Amino acid sequence: MRRTIWTSTATATALLLITLGAGGAQAELKTTGEGKEQRLDPAQFDPDSRARYELFAQRCTQCHAMNRPISALTNGKTPISGDTFDREGIKKYVVKMMRKPNSGISREDAKAIVDFLTTARDLAEKAP
Ligand code: HEC
Repeated sequence: MRRTIWTSTATATALLLITLGAGGAQAELKTTGEGKEQRLDPAQFDPDSRARYELFAQRCTQCHAMNRPISALTNGKTPISGDTFDREGIKKYVVKMMRKPNSGISREDAKAIVDFLTTARDLAEKAP
């Protein structure tokens, strides 16, 4: 009897998890390609974020491939230092990149890119 109750509870929990998982599947950060060819899929962003995506794609791939920031976005950790890539971490790293010699990133660019990366990180965090 005890065993039966335990089993049905486990089944109910499993079903609940599956249902929640299916609901959450709509929010995830979509990427295309692999390695140095990896890109964020621009179609997943609303028009405002898409304009910021273009700026990010141009400014943040001058010295390294896009997979470096994408890795930070999907894992919530920067790929080299293993630093937290949350709201604060995003600001810290965009400023760090902006200050590199010849980054070509203005303060206005940096603000827009921080906004964009925060939106993208929110999507990644909602992923199942
Ligand atoms: C002027 C060259 C340059 C530009 C432009 C640049 N980066 Fe970087 N990036 C680097 C270098 C060099 C590193 C290696 C680690 C370091 O020096 O911080 C790096 C490392 C990184 C890392 C990994 C950091 C770690 O410690 O794990 C991330 C994430 C990153 N860049 C994101 C970006 C983003 C986002 C942008 C656009 C705002 C950008 N980069 C623009 C040169 C650049």
